[in-house]
Amino acid sequence: MLIVGGSNSQVLSHELSKELGVKEILLDYKKFPDGETYVRIPAEVNSETVAVVQSMAHNPDEYLMEYFLLVRTLRDLGAKKIVGVIPYFAYARQDARFRPGEAISLHIVRDLLEQVGTDMLITFDLHLHREGNLDELFNIPVVNLTAMEALAGYIVTHFKYETPIVIAPDEEAEKWAKVAAKALGGASFDVLAKKRDVRTGEIEIAPKNLTVEGKDVLIVDDIISTGGTMATAVKMTKVQGAKRIVAACTHPLLIGGAYTNILRAGADALIGTNSIESPVSVVSIAPIIAKAISDSLE
Ligand code: R5P
Repeated sequence: MLIVGGSNSQVLSHELSKELGVKEILLDYKKFPDGETYVRIPAEVNSETVAVVQSMAHNPDEYLMEYFLLVRTLRDLGAKKIVGVIPYFAYARQDARFRPGEAISLHIVRDLLEQVGTDMLITFDLHLHREGNLDELFNIPVVNLTAMEALAGYIVTHFKYETPIVIAPDEEAEKWAKVAAKALGGASFDVLAKKRDVRTGEIEIAPKNLTVEGKDVLIVDDIISTGGTMATAVKMTKVQGAKRIVAACTHPLLIGGAYTNILRAGADALIGTNSIESPVSVVSIAPIIAKAISDSLE
């Protein structure tokens, strides 16, 4: 087996090759003056299984194009099996035609990934709200891993949380809160919702069932993009008297002032994974990917 890291996932691909104890092919990559991408795979790949690691964060069109060039070239060079490791899968949010005439981007990206020669896809906490069944969505095997246990593990090691509560900022994140809570040894979890304060009659955003007052809170989401969702969740949890608040996500896109806004909203820390390399990417997903690859090759 061999690992090829795309230009957006160099650290992760290096870590993955260490985890698996297999050779990492160092890509020959450049941009032409007109913006076109050049890639060369300077290694013998004939009859090899090759994992192509490429997150699609920040500049998805460019990294997708690079991925397509890599996978088709590996196919041409005789690779036996190509495993696409795309921890952050861009375009997943446009999974339906919300307005007439819109492109259903998820479906188009899926088709292209399959057509260039991806035999199997590994991704993380895929943002699927309407497409529930991955086996129906893709024509190739897809492993949708979660980083929530690993993020919870970091909390156990680095924060001496007492009787933690895990909070989802919205209904869509509840499934991730549930996984993180279980990994914290059966902690309670809840989801934020708009509700009316019984004393003042005012509308507030608060956990549906639990109270966070005096509690150590972990707020989890799949993606932090502009940080608006997480900053609001942190602020509301703080207002309701949480003792400590750590915000966590699988994919720290952190556009603009997201990081500082979340800290200013009252978070004691923000943590994420190296699905996307960022200042908060303290949890490595390489061991999780390595296990999934090993399991799939058994
Ligand atoms: C939404 O459904 C996602 O799970 C995230 O909550 C969302 O992408 C976060 O976006 P932002 O950081 O821009 O609020």
